[in-house]
Amino acid sequence: MKTAILGYGKMGHEIEKILRARKHEVTAVIDNEDDWHTEWQKFLDSDIAIEFSMPDVAVKNLYRCFDNEIPVVSGTTGWHNRLDEVRTYCAEKSGSLVYGTNFSIGVNLFFKAAQWLAEQMSHYPQYEPQIEETHHITKKDKPSGTAITTAEVIMPHLRNMSGWISDAKEEGKLTIISKREGDVSGIHSLLFNSEADELELRHTAKSRAGFAQGAVIAAEWLVNNGGIHDFRTVFANLTDNSNIRNFNLSY
Ligand SMILES: NC(=O)c1ccc[n+]([C@@H]2O[C@H](COP(=O)([O-])OP(=O)(O)OC[C@H]3O[C@@H](n4cnc5c(N)ncnc54)[C@H](O)[C@@H]3O)[C@@H](O)[C@H]2O)c1
Repeated sequence: MKTAILGYGKMGHEIEKILRARKHEVTAVIDNEDDWHTEWQKFLDSDIAIEFSMPDVAVKNLYRCFDNEIPVVSGTTGWHNRLDEVRTYCAEKSGSLVYGTNFSIGVNLFFKAAQWLAEQMSHYPQYEPQIEETHHITKKDKPSGTAITTAEVIMPHLRNMSGWISDAKEEGKLTIISKREGDVSGIHSLLFNSEADELELRHTAKSRAGFAQGAVIAAEWLVNNGGIHDFRTVFANLTDNSNIRNFNLSY
């Protein structure tokens, strides 16, 4: 798979390692607007692009892929308020896209577990739900995309709640607390607190490798399948076909 890396920061470097270990060719590496000019032809010669850049440039990067018939896997967070527009443009151009707020196996299981737990807890209104997330100090968006997806996944099971609120409390809103510390790769907790006790479902990323693995697996899948998909759907499909179960960090 001839792959263009769009965004060569912390995640771009991890993705490069996984691509090379899985014998894929890295064609273009684009990390700023100048690179888009110098690497343009190599970008056009790619089978696929993997995009982990920044919230304010992600959509432009994706449109470049759609305009030039390059399928793209996007892990950038902080732009999903424009998801409908992006999906529509991608469809108009007959493009291929996998997007996701979190590509790790653990977090995709966390989403499923969170949904199940919220459904159980809907029978016990004495428990107050809350989401907490901790990330490194250079993270641009807040709350994290993963925390927002968790809120969306559990929202149908929360009584008398619609929507979430960041770092505040408001009647009828789910509170998401965001903390920024050191180089933390990502910690997410779903809590249900009562006077008697507290339940916590937690995912802790030990490094960025799990996110990068998932993105490369998604790219391998997208090259063969095409279409427009949330990674959670791809994950379910991969799990059903048992392709992802034996994937471990020894790549
Ligand atoms: N979906 C997931 O599983 C997942 C996991 C980790 C991080 N993320 C998200 O991925 C994104 C990147 O994370 P990171 O930790 O690598 O950030 P980072 O700040 O280390 O890297 C972002 C890179 O994008 C580059 N960039 C700036 N303008 C660009 C342009 N026009 N074209 C291409 N690249 C450009 C920057 O120079 C920088 O190197 C963030 O939005 C983060 O939240 C998602």
